[in-house]
Amino acid sequence: MGVIHPDICKAETLPSNYYTDQNIYLELLQKFHSSWNFIGLESMLEENSIMPISIGETPMLLTKTDSQIYCVSNVCTHRGMILCQENKTTSTITCPYHGRTFSLNGEIKHMPKFSEVENFPADNDNLPSAKVVNWHGLLFANLSDNESFEGYMSSLESRMSFLDFSKLNRDSSLDRLHELSANWMLYVDNYLEGFHIPYVHKGLNSVIDYSNYETEVFDNAVLQIGYALEGEESFDIPSSHQDYGKNIAAYYWWVFPNLMLNFYPWGLSINVVIPNGVSSTKIAYYGLISDNSKFGLGAGGNLDTVEEEDQWIVESCNKGMNSPLYQRGRYSPSMEQGVHHFHRLLTE
Ligand code: FES
Ligand SMILES: [Fe+2]
Repeated sequence: MGVIHPDICKAETLPSNYYTDQNIYLELLQKFHSSWNFIGLESMLEENSIMPISIGETPMLLTKTDSQIYCVSNVCTHRGMILCQENKTTSTITCPYHGRTFSLNGEIKHMPKFSEVENFPADNDNLPSAKVVNWHGLLFANLSDNESFEGYMSSLESRMSFLDFSKLNRDSSLDRLHELSANWMLYVDNYLEGFHIPYVHKGLNSVIDYSNYETEVFDNAVLQIGYALEGEESFDIPSSHQDYGKNIAAYYWWVFPNLMLNFYPWGLSINVVIPNGVSSTKIAYYGLISDNSKFGLGAGGNLDTVEEEDQWIVESCNKGMNSPLYQRGRYSPSMEQGVHHFHRLLTE
């Protein structure tokens, strides 16, 4: 048996050193390398532009040239300098250290003072790249060769099929970048249960029907459904759909390892959890609106307040993980199936 018992009624939560130990942190980051990762939105990239991103903590560059999108290593193949630290419009990638240049697809173009070097350039002087898939304008990348994208978003795609993804337009005024002093998994744990809503989110609790909150578990995803209280904003769901007739205020999807897609009647709010050291995490937020008239209403209303409330919890739990008097806890079988599933996926 692994670290987490498959039977939630018998299981104990992740041991605290999973959140505090540097070696375990690095080992778990390998999961990002074998998985698909959300890396940005198609609409963020202009032709001939480059944008630093990361997969786990691996520095990468998202680029666009000749209408093609690439995701290449952001580490110079000469002596390992980070090539680019900020978004740029450019047709080449030039290393700031000794001037090695690459085209935006990662091919080496030029290196000063290297004319006498034998067998140069070779294949490994190009920038390694990740596979990229564009799914309804959301970009995903994978560093390993053998993972197919098919299946990765399939449970979400079929459940949300009643939405027209082409109507979602990014509103950059909804972008946020938060930094918190906590391990990334604590943020995911907290996201994966609605158990805390009545205690932590009084405002949100006043618009959703907590007694009907639901969690469904899929291979590499967890869906939580928030039902609207009478009179609050909810989805128009067609009669052919399994959720027809339900008063749904929000579909909260988490997809392994670090992507959260929150669907509201007004559109989609995306949170990406970016590990930034064992006790440091960045949360990037993007908002895509499909119906402006509903924006700001219902469960998807006061997102900044909800975020602040969650961050306080997550940072406080991070302090708790460092106490010698806490080792691990137990799960509520009715409220914490999502957290249990995440812990199993991480440790299996
Ligand atoms: S490290 Fe990039 S050119 Fe030397
Ligand atoms: Fe929360």
